[in-house]
Amino acid sequence: MQIHTLRRPFAIPLIVLGLIVIVGIIITFDYIVLLFDPATDNAIEFEVPVFDKASGTYSTVNPQLIPKIIHQTWKNDTVPEQWKMAQSSCIDMHPDFEYKLWTDASAREFIETEYPWFLDTFDSYPFPIMRADAIRYFVLNHFGGIYIDLDEGCVSRLDPLLTYPAWVRKADPTGISNSVMGSTPHHPFFMRVMLDLKNYDFQWGVPYITVMYATGPLFLSVIWKQFKRWAVYDAEQLWILMPAEPGAAYFNDLHGSSWHEDDAKWIKYLGLHWLLFTILGFLIASVFGFTSYLVMRRIYYPKTALSYKYLGQE
Ligand SMILES: *[C@@H]1O[C@H](CO)[C@@H](O)[C@H](O)[C@H]1NC(C)=O
Repeated sequence: MQIHTLRRPFAIPLIVLGLIVIVGIIITFDYIVLLFDPATDNAIEFEVPVFDKASGTYSTVNPQLIPKIIHQTWKNDTVPEQWKMAQSSCIDMHPDFEYKLWTDASAREFIETEYPWFLDTFDSYPFPIMRADAIRYFVLNHFGGIYIDLDEGCVSRLDPLLTYPAWVRKADPTGISNSVMGSTPHHPFFMRVMLDLKNYDFQWGVPYITVMYATGPLFLSVIWKQFKRWAVYDAEQLWILMPAEPGAAYFNDLHGSSWHEDDAKWIKYLGLHWLLFTILGFLIASVFGFTSYLVMRRIYYPKTALSYKYLGQE
């Protein structure tokens, strides 16, 4: 059979197939590349600051960039008993740091006063954890400082972490977490995160997925991938706090009570599902393409008996 007779029936299904594949790749791209990013670039080196007895201050190899502020969040001023030790370990170790505990009330008031354009989105989040996620990005952007989940205790002075313009902690096995983060005020990454919250405000039907995609670590990881791709200046790049080596930890992650403790596993799980969806998409598109081809052939060449062709009895 001549190539020529194939051309027309194939054209439309091929174009549709191509469009489906392109749109599919564009939509899932950041989630798929996230799976293969070991996040080993820009790793933060552990450092013990030197204490000067005479002045009572700590000094680091590089100059301090991030202001000495610790941010934490809880729904009100009554921190549950099981987290008080972790909370005071950070406060007691850093008497020279300002300490801010953001409550539901003070967080809302802050957004209302400083970022009124975000108040509607903030109020409309269906789960309190989403407000707890959002407020940490806003305060880091506004004041700078270090945000620490309430169940993380401090085991070492945080001064060295103040010498990086902005950093987040690596999640295991993939992506980044929002459990501890540090930033100078108005760093382009957290600006970007803050502005993108509105664009990613979408309810996915399943609460956990909504939280992950709209405000949580998966959201943050995707913005980070995009930021890494587009950031113009090296100085803007985000630094990554890798899993602590024994004896070289800043935080004493107690696990078990963190809001997002299983998020990293979910990222991997969802990532694999994205791959699965993509493959499934290709399969559906192929079936669609082939069926359209048969239909088109019928339309263009109604007299051709397909079965005869396949049997080579044309
Ligand atoms: C904070 O919330 C807890 C639990 O909902 C409640 O028992 C406690 O009284 C609240 N504390 C304040 C200061 O409102």
